[in-house]
Amino acid sequence: MRAFVISEVDGVLSTAVSSVDLAPLQPSDVLVRVDYSGVNFKDALVAAAPSRVRRVATLIGGVDAAGTVADSPNTSFPAGTRVAVHGGDLGVARDGGFAEFVYAPARFLSSLPATISTRDAMVIGTAGFTAMASVLALESNGLRKGNEVLVTGATGGVGSIAVTLLANLGYLPVASTGSSHETAWLHERGAVRVIGRGDISDRLDRVLGSERWAGAIDCVGGDTLNQILRSLRYGGAVAASGLVASAELKTTVYPFITRAVSLLGIDAVEATATTRQIVWAALGNLATRIDFTPLIDREIQMEDLPDAFESIRNGSTRGRILVNPTPGQTVRR
Ligand SMILES: NC(=O)c1ccc[n+]([C@@H]2O[C@H](COP(=O)([O-])OP(=O)(O)OC[C@H]3O[C@@H](n4cnc5c(N)ncnc54)[C@H](OP(=O)(O)O)[C@@H]3O)[C@@H](O)[C@H]2O)c1
Repeated sequence: MRAFVISEVDGVLSTAVSSVDLAPLQPSDVLVRVDYSGVNFKDALVAAAPSRVRRVATLIGGVDAAGTVADSPNTSFPAGTRVAVHGGDLGVARDGGFAEFVYAPARFLSSLPATISTRDAMVIGTAGFTAMASVLALESNGLRKGNEVLVTGATGGVGSIAVTLLANLGYLPVASTGSSHETAWLHERGAVRVIGRGDISDRLDRVLGSERWAGAIDCVGGDTLNQILRSLRYGGAVAASGLVASAELKTTVYPFITRAVSLLGIDAVEATATTRQIVWAALGNLATRIDFTPLIDREIQMEDLPDAFESIRNGSTRGRILVNPTPGQTVRR
Protein backbone atom coordinates (compact mmCIF):
# COMPACT_ATOMS: atom_id res chain seq x y z
CA MET A 1 0.00 0.00 0.00
CA ARG A 2 1.00 3.67 -0.42
CA ALA A 3 1.90 5.63 2.71
CA PHE A 4 3.62 8.85 3.77
CA VAL A 5 6.77 7.77 5.61
CA ILE A 6 8.69 10.10 7.93
CA SER A 7 12.26 9.16 8.78
CA GLU A 8 14.97 10.79 10.87
CA VAL A 9 18.55 9.58 10.42
CA ASP A 10 21.42 11.33 12.24
CA GLY A 11 19.17 14.33 12.91
CA VAL A 12 18.20 14.72 9.24
CA LEU A 13 14.52 14.35 8.35
CA SER A 14 13.27 12.84 5.12
CA THR A 15 9.72 12.23 3.95
CA ALA A 16 8.44 10.21 1.00
CA VAL A 17 5.29 8.59 -0.30
CA SER A 18 6.42 4.97 -0.48
CA SER A 19 5.11 1.47 -1.01
CA VAL A 20 4.91 -0.16 2.44
CA ASP A 21 4.00 -3.64 3.71
CA LEU A 22 1.73 -3.14 6.70
CA ALA A 23 1.52 -5.58 9.62
CA PRO A 24 -0.40 -5.37 12.93
CA LEU A 25 1.63 -4.55 16.06
CA GLN A 26 -0.72 -6.80 18.07
CA PRO A 27 -2.97 -9.64 16.87
CA SER A 28 -5.92 -7.69 18.36
CA ASP A 29 -5.33 -4.66 16.09
CA VAL A 30 -8.15 -3.65 13.74
CA LEU A 31 -7.41 -2.97 10.05
CA VAL A 32 -9.11 0.13 8.63
CA ARG A 33 -9.23 1.16 4.97
CA VAL A 34 -8.61 4.90 5.07
CA ASP A 35 -10.97 7.14 3.09
CA TYR A 36 -9.53 10.38 4.46
CA SER A 37 -7.04 11.72 6.92
CA GLY A 38 -6.58 15.29 8.12
CA VAL A 39 -3.59 17.45 8.96
CA ASN A 40 -3.23 18.58 12.55
CA PHE A 41 -0.75 20.92 14.27
CA LYS A 42 0.69 17.79 15.91
CA ASP A 43 1.43 16.23 12.50
CA ALA A 44 3.63 19.20 11.67
CA LEU A 45 5.48 18.66 14.97
CA VAL A 46 5.97 14.96 14.17
CA ALA A 47 7.40 15.83 10.73
CA ALA A 48 10.27 17.87 12.17
CA ALA A 49 13.78 17.04 13.36
CA PRO A 50 14.34 17.20 16.22
CA SER A 51 10.71 16.54 17.15
CA ARG A 52 9.18 17.24 20.56
CA VAL A 53 6.45 14.65 20.00
CA ARG A 54 7.62 11.92 17.60
CA ARG A 55 8.87 8.95 19.63
CA VAL A 56 10.39 6.72 16.92
CA ALA A 57 12.87 7.43 14.12
CA THR A 58 10.70 6.10 11.28
CA LEU A 59 6.93 5.82 10.95
CA ILE A 60 3.93 6.51 8.77
CA GLY A 61 2.60 9.91 9.85
CA GLY A 62 -0.98 10.95 10.56
CA VAL A 63 -2.67 11.24 13.97
CA ASP A 64 -6.10 11.06 12.33
CA ALA A 65 -7.95 8.76 9.94
CA ALA A 66 -11.50 7.87 8.97
CA GLY A 67 -12.65 4.94 6.90
CA THR A 68 -14.16 1.48 7.03
CA VAL A 69 -13.06 -1.53 9.05
CA ALA A 70 -11.53 -4.03 6.58
CA ASP A 71 -10.53 -6.80 8.97
CA SER A 72 -11.19 -7.13 12.68
CA PRO A 73 -10.78 -9.61 15.51
CA ASN A 74 -12.93 -7.25 17.65
CA THR A 75 -16.68 -7.88 17.76
CA SER A 76 -17.40 -4.21 18.64
CA PHE A 77 -15.96 -3.13 15.29
CA PRO A 78 -16.87 -5.77 12.68
CA ALA A 79 -15.74 -5.41 9.05
CA GLY A 80 -17.77 -2.70 7.32
CA THR A 81 -18.08 -0.43 10.38
CA ARG A 82 -17.43 3.24 9.54
CA VAL A 83 -14.97 4.60 12.06
CA ALA A 84 -12.80 7.52 13.07
CA VAL A 85 -9.34 6.52 14.30
CA HIS A 86 -7.37 8.90 16.50
CA GLY A 87 -5.55 9.28 19.78
CA GLY A 88 -3.03 7.24 21.71
CA ASP A 89 0.30 7.00 19.95
CA LEU A 90 -1.16 6.90 16.43
CA GLY A 91 1.14 8.80 14.06
CA VAL A 92 3.50 9.55 16.97
CA ALA A 93 5.03 6.24 18.00
CA ARG A 94 3.17 3.85 15.68
CA ASP A 95 2.11 4.01 12.02
CA GLY A 96 -0.69 6.51 11.45
CA GLY A 97 -3.36 7.60 9.03
CA PHE A 98 -1.42 9.05 6.08
CA ALA A 99 -1.84 5.75 4.25
CA GLU A 100 -4.33 3.63 2.35
CA PHE A 101 -4.76 1.37 5.40
CA VAL A 102 -4.01 1.65 9.11
CA TYR A 103 -3.85 -0.92 11.90
CA ALA A 104 -4.98 0.39 15.30
CA PRO A 105 -6.06 -0.94 18.70
CA ALA A 106 -9.83 -0.89 19.13
CA ARG A 107 -9.52 1.75 21.87
CA PHE A 108 -8.42 4.28 19.19
CA LEU A 109 -11.61 3.63 17.16
CA SER A 110 -14.99 5.35 17.36
CA SER A 111 -18.02 4.22 15.35
CA LEU A 112 -19.26 7.17 13.35
CA PRO A 113 -22.84 8.36 13.81
CA ALA A 114 -24.98 7.79 10.69
CA THR A 115 -25.11 11.58 10.16
CA ILE A 116 -21.34 11.88 9.69
CA SER A 117 -19.62 10.70 6.49
CA THR A 118 -16.01 9.52 6.67
CA ARG A 119 -15.07 12.70 4.76
CA ASP A 120 -16.85 14.97 7.25
CA ALA A 121 -15.32 12.93 10.07
CA MET A 122 -11.91 14.12 8.88
CA VAL A 123 -13.06 17.70 8.40
CA ILE A 124 -13.89 17.35 12.10
CA GLY A 125 -10.89 15.15 13.01
CA THR A 126 -8.98 15.38 16.27
CA ALA A 127 -9.35 19.17 16.06
CA GLY A 128 -13.16 19.05 15.93
CA PHE A 129 -13.28 16.32 18.56
CA THR A 130 -11.26 18.63 20.81
CA ALA A 131 -13.55 21.57 20.02
CA MET A 132 -16.66 19.53 20.91
CA ALA A 133 -15.03 18.17 24.08
CA SER A 134 -14.26 21.79 25.00
CA VAL A 135 -17.88 22.86 24.49
CA LEU A 136 -19.13 19.93 26.59
CA ALA A 137 -16.65 20.79 29.37
CA LEU A 138 -17.85 24.42 29.44
CA GLU A 139 -21.47 23.26 29.54
CA SER A 140 -20.68 20.95 32.46
CA ASN A 141 -19.23 24.00 34.20
CA GLY A 142 -22.56 25.81 33.82
CA LEU A 143 -22.19 27.79 30.58
CA ARG A 144 -25.58 29.13 29.52
CA LYS A 145 -26.77 29.63 25.93
CA GLY A 146 -26.93 33.19 24.66
CA ASN A 147 -23.61 34.11 26.28
CA GLU A 148 -20.46 35.31 24.55
CA VAL A 149 -17.74 32.63 24.37
CA LEU A 150 -14.24 33.57 23.27
CA VAL A 151 -12.46 31.29 20.77
CA THR A 152 -8.74 31.80 20.15
CA GLY A 153 -6.77 30.61 17.10
CA ALA A 154 -10.14 30.99 15.44
CA THR A 155 -9.17 30.27 11.83
CA GLY A 156 -7.31 27.06 12.79
CA GLY A 157 -8.73 23.55 13.07
CA VAL A 158 -9.83 23.56 16.73
CA GLY A 159 -10.81 27.24 16.58
CA SER A 160 -12.90 27.27 13.41
CA ILE A 161 -14.84 24.17 14.42
CA ALA A 162 -15.36 25.57 17.92
CA VAL A 163 -16.85 28.75 16.41
CA THR A 164 -19.11 26.65 14.17
CA LEU A 165 -20.29 24.35 16.98
CA LEU A 166 -20.91 27.18 19.46
CA ALA A 167 -22.96 29.17 16.93
CA ASN A 168 -25.06 26.12 16.08
CA LEU A 169 -25.70 25.43 19.78
CA GLY A 170 -27.00 28.93 20.53
CA TYR A 171 -23.92 30.53 22.04
CA LEU A 172 -22.37 33.78 20.81
CA PRO A 173 -18.84 32.95 19.65
CA VAL A 174 -16.33 35.80 19.61
CA ALA A 175 -13.42 34.86 17.34
CA SER A 176 -9.91 35.99 18.26
CA THR A 177 -7.57 35.77 15.29
CA GLY A 178 -4.28 36.99 13.88
CA SER A 179 -5.77 36.55 10.40
CA SER A 180 -7.89 39.70 10.09
CA HIS A 181 -8.29 39.04 6.35
CA GLU A 182 -10.49 36.08 7.34
CA THR A 183 -12.98 38.24 9.28
CA ALA A 184 -15.83 37.72 6.76
CA TRP A 185 -15.20 33.95 6.73
CA LEU A 186 -15.33 33.81 10.54
CA HIS A 187 -18.64 35.72 10.54
CA GLU A 188 -19.95 33.18 8.02
CA ARG A 189 -18.96 30.39 10.42
CA GLY A 190 -21.10 32.06 13.10
CA ALA A 191 -18.79 34.48 14.95
CA VAL A 192 -20.82 37.40 16.35
CA ARG A 193 -17.64 39.46 16.64
CA VAL A 194 -14.07 39.09 15.38
CA ILE A 195 -11.24 40.57 17.45
CA GLY A 196 -7.43 40.61 17.21
CA ARG A 197 -5.11 38.36 19.18
CA GLY A 198 -4.21 41.27 21.43
CA ASP A 199 -7.81 42.37 22.14
CA ILE A 200 -8.79 39.65 24.61
CA SER A 201 -8.42 41.68 27.78
CA ASP A 202 -7.92 45.24 29.04
CA ARG A 203 -6.45 47.06 32.08
CA LEU A 204 -3.05 45.47 31.46
CA ASP A 205 -1.56 47.53 34.31
CA ARG A 206 -3.97 45.88 36.80
CA VAL A 207 -4.06 42.35 38.18
CA LEU A 208 -7.44 41.60 36.57
CA GLY A 209 -9.10 42.90 33.43
CA SER A 210 -12.79 43.63 32.88
CA GLU A 211 -15.12 40.65 33.17
CA ARG A 212 -15.78 39.88 29.51
CA TRP A 213 -16.20 36.20 28.70
CA ALA A 214 -18.69 33.71 30.14
CA GLY A 215 -16.46 31.00 28.69
CA ALA A 216 -13.51 30.52 26.38
CA ILE A 217 -11.99 27.83 24.17
CA ASP A 218 -8.24 28.26 23.90
CA CYS A 219 -5.77 26.30 21.79
CA VAL A 220 -3.07 29.01 21.86
CA GLY A 221 -1.72 28.81 25.44
CA GLY A 222 1.01 31.10 26.79
CA ASP A 223 0.09 34.70 27.54
CA THR A 224 -3.17 34.30 25.58
CA LEU A 225 -4.38 31.86 28.23
CA ASN A 226 -3.24 34.23 30.97
CA GLN A 227 -5.20 37.10 29.35
CA ILE A 228 -8.29 34.89 29.12
CA LEU A 229 -8.07 33.94 32.80
CA ARG A 230 -7.87 37.59 33.88
CA SER A 231 -10.89 38.54 31.74
CA LEU A 232 -13.35 35.70 32.43
CA ARG A 233 -16.59 36.67 34.12
CA TYR A 234 -17.27 35.56 37.68
CA GLY A 235 -17.71 31.74 37.66
CA GLY A 236 -16.63 31.45 34.04
CA ALA A 237 -14.28 28.84 32.60
CA VAL A 238 -11.73 28.34 29.87
CA ALA A 239 -11.28 25.00 28.15
CA ALA A 240 -7.57 24.81 27.34
CA SER A 241 -6.28 22.33 24.76
CA GLY A 242 -3.29 23.78 22.95
CA LEU A 243 0.04 25.53 22.86
CA VAL A 244 0.50 27.01 19.39
CA ALA A 245 1.97 30.17 20.95
CA SER A 246 3.61 28.68 24.04
CA ALA A 247 3.47 25.84 26.54
CA GLU A 248 4.39 28.26 29.34
CA LEU A 249 1.65 29.70 31.56
CA LYS A 250 2.52 32.64 33.79
CA THR A 251 -0.49 33.91 35.68
CA THR A 252 -1.72 34.74 39.18
CA VAL A 253 -4.18 33.02 41.46
CA TYR A 254 -6.47 36.10 41.54
CA PRO A 255 -8.86 34.94 38.77
CA PHE A 256 -9.38 31.70 40.69
CA ILE A 257 -9.75 33.10 44.21
CA THR A 258 -11.61 36.35 43.50
CA ARG A 259 -13.71 35.42 40.45
CA ALA A 260 -14.10 31.66 40.98
CA VAL A 261 -13.03 30.94 37.41
CA SER A 262 -12.05 27.46 36.25
CA LEU A 263 -9.28 26.22 34.02
CA LEU A 264 -10.54 23.06 32.32
CA GLY A 265 -7.95 20.79 30.72
CA ILE A 266 -8.98 19.12 27.46
CA ASP A 267 -7.21 16.01 26.17
CA ALA A 268 -8.24 14.11 23.07
CA VAL A 269 -5.27 11.75 23.07
CA GLU A 270 -6.15 9.55 26.04
CA ALA A 271 -9.91 10.09 25.86
CA THR A 272 -11.72 7.04 27.21
CA ALA A 273 -14.14 4.97 25.14
CA THR A 274 -17.02 6.60 27.02
CA THR A 275 -15.74 10.12 26.35
CA ARG A 276 -15.23 9.29 22.66
CA GLN A 277 -18.78 7.96 22.44
CA ILE A 278 -20.23 11.06 24.13
CA VAL A 279 -18.23 13.50 21.98
CA TRP A 280 -18.89 11.76 18.64
CA ALA A 281 -22.59 11.41 19.53
CA ALA A 282 -22.78 15.15 20.27
CA LEU A 283 -21.07 15.85 16.93
CA GLY A 284 -23.50 13.47 15.23
CA ASN A 285 -26.49 15.35 16.70
CA LEU A 286 -25.21 18.64 15.28
CA ALA A 287 -24.00 17.27 11.95
CA THR A 288 -27.35 17.54 10.17
CA ARG A 289 -27.33 21.32 10.82
CA ILE A 290 -23.76 21.96 9.71
CA ASP A 291 -22.30 22.24 6.22
CA PHE A 292 -18.72 21.07 6.79
CA THR A 293 -17.48 21.98 3.29
CA PRO A 294 -16.55 25.63 4.07
CA LEU A 295 -14.32 24.35 6.90
CA ILE A 296 -12.05 22.64 4.35
CA ASP A 297 -8.95 24.69 3.63
CA ARG A 298 -8.02 22.31 0.84
CA GLU A 299 -8.03 18.64 -0.07
CA ILE A 300 -4.60 17.24 -0.82
CA GLN A 301 -2.81 14.04 -1.70
CA MET A 302 -0.03 12.54 0.39
CA GLU A 303 2.62 14.06 -1.92
CA ASP A 304 1.39 17.53 -0.84
CA LEU A 305 1.86 16.91 2.90
CA PRO A 306 5.22 18.74 3.31
CA ASP A 307 3.58 21.95 1.96
CA ALA A 308 0.62 21.41 4.30
CA PHE A 309 2.95 21.13 7.32
CA GLU A 310 4.57 24.42 6.29
CA SER A 311 1.14 26.11 6.12
CA ILE A 312 0.31 24.81 9.60
CA ARG A 313 3.68 25.96 10.96
CA ASN A 314 3.24 29.49 9.67
CA GLY A 315 -0.41 29.65 10.79
CA SER A 316 -1.76 30.30 7.29
CA THR A 317 -4.41 27.59 7.17
CA ARG A 318 -8.12 28.31 7.32
CA GLY A 319 -10.04 25.40 8.84
CA ARG A 320 -8.85 21.90 8.01
CA ILE A 321 -6.63 20.29 5.40
CA LEU A 322 -8.07 16.97 4.20
CA VAL A 323 -5.80 14.20 2.94
CA ASN A 324 -7.13 11.79 0.34
CA PRO A 325 -4.82 8.74 0.22
CA THR A 326 -6.28 7.55 -3.07
CA PRO A 327 -4.47 8.98 -6.10
CA GLY A 328 -6.77 11.18 -8.16
CA GLN A 329 -8.21 14.65 -8.35
CA THR A 330 -7.73 17.07 -5.46
CA VAL A 331 -10.04 19.94 -4.55
CA ARG A 332 -8.52 23.32 -3.68
CA ARG A 333 -10.33 26.31 -2.23
N1 LIG B 1 -5.33 18.61 23.91
C1 LIG B 1 -5.54 17.86 22.84
O1 LIG B 1 -5.85 16.68 22.93
C2 LIG B 1 -5.43 18.52 21.49
C3 LIG B 1 -6.15 18.04 20.40
C4 LIG B 1 -6.07 18.74 19.19
C5 LIG B 1 -5.25 19.86 19.09
N2 LIG B 1 -4.54 20.26 20.18
C6 LIG B 1 -3.66 21.44 20.14
O2 LIG B 1 -4.45 22.55 19.79
C7 LIG B 1 -3.64 23.47 19.09
C8 LIG B 1 -4.33 23.84 17.77
O3 LIG B 1 -4.36 22.71 16.90
P1 LIG B 1 -4.95 22.86 15.44
O4 LIG B 1 -4.80 21.54 14.79
O5 LIG B 1 -6.26 23.55 15.49
O6 LIG B 1 -3.85 23.88 14.80
P2 LIG B 1 -4.02 24.86 13.58
O7 LIG B 1 -5.05 24.37 12.62
O8 LIG B 1 -2.64 25.09 13.08
O9 LIG B 1 -4.60 26.20 14.23
C9 LIG B 1 -3.87 26.99 15.12
C10 LIG B 1 -4.29 28.44 14.95
O10 LIG B 1 -3.70 29.21 16.00
C11 LIG B 1 -3.39 30.51 15.55
N3 LIG B 1 -1.95 30.73 15.75
C12 LIG B 1 -0.92 30.16 15.08
N4 LIG B 1 0.26 30.56 15.59
C13 LIG B 1 -0.04 31.42 16.60
C14 LIG B 1 0.75 32.16 17.54
N5 LIG B 1 2.09 32.11 17.51
N6 LIG B 1 0.11 32.91 18.45
C15 LIG B 1 -1.24 32.96 18.50
N7 LIG B 1 -2.03 32.28 17.64
C16 LIG B 1 -1.44 31.51 16.72
C17 LIG B 1 -3.76 30.58 14.07
O11 LIG B 1 -5.12 31.08 14.01
P3 LIG B 1 -5.46 32.66 13.79
O12 LIG B 1 -4.61 33.09 12.62
O13 LIG B 1 -6.91 32.66 13.52
O14 LIG B 1 -5.07 33.36 15.05
C18 LIG B 1 -3.77 29.10 13.66
O15 LIG B 1 -4.58 28.86 12.55
C19 LIG B 1 -2.28 22.81 18.94
O16 LIG B 1 -1.43 23.25 19.99
C20 LIG B 1 -2.58 21.35 19.09
O17 LIG B 1 -1.47 20.61 19.53
C21 LIG B 1 -4.61 19.62 21.37
